This record gives sequence, C-alpha cells and structure tokens, in this order.
Amino acid sequence: MPGIAIIGAQFGDEGKGKVTDFFAKDADIIVRYQGGNNAGHTVVVDSTMLKLHLLPSGVAHGKKVMIAAGVAIDPGVLEEEIKVVNKFKPVDLTIDPRAHIIFPYHILLDEAREGKKSKSKIGTTKRGIGPCYADRHSRIGIRFEDLVSPNLLKKRLHDIYPINKAILEKVFKWKVNVSESCIFSRFASLGKKFAKNLGDVSTLVYDALEAGKTVMFEGAQGTFLDVDFGTYPYVTSSHPISGGIATGVGLPTGKIGRIIGVVKAYTTRVGDGPFPAEIKGKEADLLRKKGNEFGTTTGRPRRVGWLDLPMLRTANRLNGFTELAVTKLDVLSGTKKLKLAVAYKIRGKNTDFFPYNAADAASAKPIYAELPGFEFSPDSLKSFDDLPKSAQDYLHFLEHDLKVPIKMISIGAERGQTILRGD
Ligand code: IMP
Repeated sequence: MPGIAIIGAQFGDEGKGKVTDFFAKDADIIVRYQGGNNAGHTVVVDSTMLKLHLLPSGVAHGKKVMIAAGVAIDPGVLEEEIKVVNKFKPVDLTIDPRAHIIFPYHILLDEAREGKKSKSKIGTTKRGIGPCYADRHSRIGIRFEDLVSPNLLKKRLHDIYPINKAILEKVFKWKVNVSESCIFSRFASLGKKFAKNLGDVSTLVYDALEAGKTVMFEGAQGTFLDVDFGTYPYVTSSHPISGGIATGVGLPTGKIGRIIGVVKAYTTRVGDGPFPAEIKGKEADLLRKKGNEFGTTTGRPRRVGWLDLPMLRTANRLNGFTELAVTKLDVLSGTKKLKLAVAYKIRGKNTDFFPYNAADAASAKPIYAELPGFEFSPDSLKSFDDLPKSAQDYLHFLEHDLKVPIKMISIGAERGQTILRGD
C-alpha cells in the first residue's frame, strides 16, 4: 500500500517526527496536508539537529517534499527553513497554489484574541493559524496563487487588509504597526522567490500513487486538536485526522492505505482544554522533566497524564488506524506503578469513549486500571521479546483493547532506539 499516513492519536506532540523520519527514508514523496508553523519537529540532517515547523521532515533525507492545499503557510518562516536546510541538503519543494498565506495581520489577530484581557483564550501558538483559516472560510483569504502574481496580490490585499486592520483597531483596540504597502512589498518579493515551487499537489500525488510510488502524509498536531472532532474550542483550526488528508491534499479517501496512529506511552497536552487523565503535582513534574515535555514551537511546559484508552478508542474510530507506533516508552521506565484510564464516569454513568460535548469532556472522571511498572536500559534491547515482561504487558493491554497491532516502539530519541515488530 503505497500511501502511508502518520497521525497523532492524542493532543499532538506524540513524537510523530521520529516515526515520520523512519518511513521517510523509503518514501518517494512526503506531504504536509494541514496546520502550519504551529507544529514543530526536530530532524537530524547530516548529524545536525534542526528544528522545523513547516517543511515536511522528509527534507532530512533529501526527498521530494510537498505542501498541500490544506496547509496555512507563513512564507517568511518557510524561506528561513529552506535557507537552513539548503546548507545540508538541497530542498526539493512543491507548494500547492491553493494553500493559504498567513499575513502579519493574522498573527496580530491571534495575539489580540489571546491577549491578557481576553475571556476566550485557547492557549494558541500565536502564529496566526486560526485567523488565516478563518479568512479562508470567510472567502477573504489570499492563496499562494495570488502571492506569485503581484497584480492579484495588490488587489486582494487592498480589499482585505482594511477589514482586518479595522477589526484589530476597533474591536481589539490593538496597534497595527505594519502598513498595506509594507506587506505588499515584502510578500510580493517572497512570491517572486517561490514562483518556481508552485505545482498542483493534488494531481501530482494522485499520479504518483497511481504509478506505484510511496507517498507519506505527515500529520501535524493530533486527533483531539481537530477543529470538529477535538475538544472544541480548545483545538487548532485544521483537520489532523486521517480524513483531513482527503480534503487537505485533494485525494480520494481510498488512496491512503496504511494509517499509522502514533501514541505516546502516556499523554501530554500543551494549551488549555479538557484533559481527563491529567496528573498534577510532583509526579507530573517528574514525568515532564524525564520526557522533556516542553513545546518545540513555544517552549511552554506541557501538561502530562496517564495513557487514556477512551481517548485512544475514539481516535481509532475517527482515523481507522491500521497499526500503531508507541513512542517514549523509555520515559516510563523506573515508574513503580502505571495507571491507564479504561473508562470515564460522566454524570454518574460509565462510558468507554471520549464524549463529544465540551461540558462532558471537562467533567469526565477517569476510571483507572493499574499495572506494575518496568525498568530497562534502551541500549540493551533489540526486539519486543527483550522488553521486560511488564512492559510487554503494558503494550499488550493497549493493542488488545484497540484491536490494532503495535508495529513500532520507540525507546529513546536516537534513530537506532526503535523496536520493530513483524506481522
Ligand atoms: P493554534 O494551532 O496555534 O491555533 O493553537 C490551538 C491549540 O492547538 C493550542 O492549544 C495549541 O497549544 C495547540 N497546538 C497547536 N499546534 C500544536 C502542536 O504541534 N502540538 C501540540 N499542540 C499544538
């Protein structure tokens, strides 16, 4: 099955970068289909660690990479990332002309909405993602096809800039320190640079799959940050679930093939919103420190919690995982007792799935199962059978519950610290 999707099963930051890196080396094309530079992943290029936010991580292997229509692009960020990666490997990038552009007024709007006095804070990355997608849906967005044509860009900006400026100044009393002409000259010059990268990603991906090539779809964020099926309104503004590939790339759903659900061995969340299996206090501080749970994009400390099966069952139902990759199992090594949320109590009733409404999600009380902890040294392990029995039991508990096989287990940050399982 030449289409491989890498999907976050929790709240993002599942360690998708390492899984993506593993599959990217054998892929012909790697595609980003949603989100923008709110994402963050660390890639190793020629033994140097690089933090990327927008470029698909396949660039680390010098592969052909594509940014599809569903991505919100800040072209200045993209320009910088390309400059850095080009020092190691030439970047072969195609951008879909339908992808929308993040402008400085989107970032200002994000900051204004998340400001100190705001009553409806989400805890966003303040990269302008929400406002950019909002303009797309209000049909006042500016797309890559406009960016590369100075006349179109000038006209669109002239219509749209005053709308966003008025909202910022009149509604939010926010200072707009960037003029229309400044934006035009900066973005027109970016457009000129990127004109050679334009291509119909939807058609290119379809044709590549038809020709038997391997295409990897690199998800950003995670299932419970999906704008419709996540913990609304504490979500991002795109569709990280597998269905987002069809609309984000412009591809029939049946073309995707393998859908790999990436599950961190515990749960983390950055930003506000419901988190039923959250742990607080000293135990949380320890796990956060051990797992280095601080955001790649904003550096914020991540909230941490136990593995949550109602969440993962729901993620499986939404995404149709064909296999699982479990990451950061090593972080749990040394923990005496491991808890797993196996159900929730909501308004006095037990439920096995994540609730669809915000009030229930906020009030869900987890019911826990307890399993003995384990301890191992990552470098001494080569196969699943080398793992301590209690670590195997922890993983079996998960895969038997979801009825989806775990095919990959990450036991450390290094590429080699990965256990693969056959059929
Ligand atoms: P936005 O995507 O910047 O609008 O942020 C909306 C919510 O999604 C916030 O809670 C962010 O912390 C969260 N978020 C966005 N991108 C990521 C990510 O890559 N990993 C984890 N959380 C994210």
